[in-house]
Amino acid sequence: MPSLTPDSRPAETPSRPSSSHIANEAVSQVRDPPRGGPAAPAPTAEREVPAPTPPLPSDAAAVFDSLLEVKGELFKGRREVLRDSYIPSRLPHREHQIHQVAEVLAPALRGDLPSNLLIYGKIGTGKTAVVAQVRRDIERRDENSDHIKFIYINCGNIDTPYSLLQMAGNTFAAKESDRIPTGWSLDRVQMGMRRLMDTKARTVILVLDEIDRLVVRSGDGVLYTLSQINTELANARLVIVGISNDLKFTNNLDARVRSRLNEEKILFPPYDALQLQDILRERAKEAFRDGVVDPGVIERCAAYAALEHGDARRALALLRLGAEMAERDRAKRITPDHIVKAKNRLEQDVIIDCCRTLPTHCKILLYAILQAYERRRTGVLTGDVYEGYAKLAQKLGLQPLHARSVSNHLSDLEALGLIRATIVSRGRGGRTREIIVDVPIAETLPALEEDPLLAPLGRPRNRGQLLLTNFDNPARTTPY
Ligand SMILES: Nc1ncnc2c1ncn2[C@@H]1O[C@H](COP(=O)(O)OP(=O)(O)O)[C@@H](O)[C@H]1O
Ligand SMILES: [Mg+2]
Repeated sequence: MPSLTPDSRPAETPSRPSSSHIANEAVSQVRDPPRGGPAAPAPTAEREVPAPTPPLPSDAAAVFDSLLEVKGELFKGRREVLRDSYIPSRLPHREHQIHQVAEVLAPALRGDLPSNLLIYGKIGTGKTAVVAQVRRDIERRDENSDHIKFIYINCGNIDTPYSLLQMAGNTFAAKESDRIPTGWSLDRVQMGMRRLMDTKARTVILVLDEIDRLVVRSGDGVLYTLSQINTELANARLVIVGISNDLKFTNNLDARVRSRLNEEKILFPPYDALQLQDILRERAKEAFRDGVVDPGVIERCAAYAALEHGDARRALALLRLGAEMAERDRAKRITPDHIVKAKNRLEQDVIIDCCRTLPTHCKILLYAILQAYERRRTGVLTGDVYEGYAKLAQKLGLQPLHARSVSNHLSDLEALGLIRATIVSRGRGGRTREIIVDVPIAETLPALEEDPLLAPLGRPRNRGQLLLTNFDNPARTTPY
C-alpha cells in the first residue's frame, strides 16, 4: 500500500462557510501595517524611559492604526491559521485515522474500486480535516495518471437532492453548454449526471460531508440512487465517502442503502484535554510570535473544549477569540483571563441564539425580567415579573397568560439556563422567589426585539455601553 504521508505544502481546503459569527471580523480582516514609518528615537543607555501611554485615538483611522500596531505584536503571519477552514500540515492524534482512511481509498491509485466508507464522530473531531488531507495526498500521487476525481460536497450547504446531483454532475462539465441547468425533472438530472460522470474511465470519490443533514432534510432517496449507480456506469466508477456528526445516523437509512454505504466504517473518538493541548500548541506556534502566549492559555482552551465533548473547533475558536480580546485590550500577551472572556463571549452567542427561538409569550416574559433587572441591577421578585409581563403583553395588544402559564414559562427559562430563581425570605415567614438574569442584557434585548411582535418595545440604546455578564458570577457584570 502506498504510504500517504502528509507534507508541508499549503492545503487545498474544501470551502465551508465559517460556522462562527463570534469572531470579530472587522478586527480579524485588517491587513498588515505598512512597513517603515517614522524612526523611533534611539534608546538612551543611562535611563530606561517607560513608553508613554498613547492618547486615546480620536477617529476610526487612528483606531485601526492602533489595532494594527498591536496585531504585529501577537500574530506573526496570517491569522487564518486559527480558522476552521485552514487545514494544517500535521494533524496530531489523527495518525491512525489518516492511515485507516488512506488504506480504504488506496486501491483507487491502483485502478481498483475502493469500498464505500462512512466516517462517524462528534463535531470537531477532525473528520473533515483528515479527509481533506488524505484527498490532497491521493491527488498528488495521481497527478500524472489522472485516474481519480474527488468531489467534495458539504450537504449542510445544499437544499435538495436535485442540487446535490446537479453540483456533482457539473464538476465534470467541460464547457458551459454541458452543465445541468436548474428546472429539469429529477430523473433527467440523474441521467445528466451519469452521462457527465461516465465520459471517462476513472474512479470518482464523492465525499458527502455532513451526510446526516442531507438525510434529515431530504431522506435517503438520493443516497439510494448514488449507491447503485455503478451498475449503470460503463466507464467511470463511484465511491461514496460519507461523513456524519450523528453517530446513529444509519438507523434512519433504508437497509439496502445502509449496507452499501457501510462497507467500511471509521469512528473518530473525541479528543481529550491533553490531545487538544498538542493540537493547539502546533497551531499557536504557526500563528503567534514567540512568547506572546502566557502559560495556562493553551491549557485553559483545551480544558474548556474537552468539557464540550473534545471539540477541536471549539478549542481553536477560544484561542482565536482570546487573541482578539488581547488585541482589544492592547495587551502584549494573551493571558488565561483573555480565554475566560472568550469563553463568555462564545456562550453569550449561544444564549442569544436560544432566546431568538423562544415562543412569543416566553420572549415577552424574558423581556420584562431583563427590563426590571436592567433598572435595578438586583434580583427581581416574581410578583414584579408577572406585573411587568402583563403590562408589556397589553402594550403589544396581547391577552396576558394566566399566572400558571407564566410560571411554566419561568420554569422553561430556568431550564434553559437563561435565568435562575432563588427562594428569598421576606421576613415574618413570607417567602418569595427572586429571579437573577444569566444573559447579557444589552445584547439579548435587541435579539428579542427582532421578533416583529416584540418590535414595538424597541428603543434606542447606547451601543457603546455593552455589558458582558460574567457567567462564572452572573450577579456581576463587567464592562466589555
Ligand atoms: N488533529 C488535529 N490537529 C490539528 N487540527 C485539528 C485536528 N483535528 C481537528 N483540527 C482542527 O479543528 C477544526 C475542526 O476540525 P474538523 O475536521 O472540521 O472537525 P469535524 O469535521 O469532525 O467537525 C479544524 O480547524 C481542524 O483543522
Ligand atoms: Mg466536518
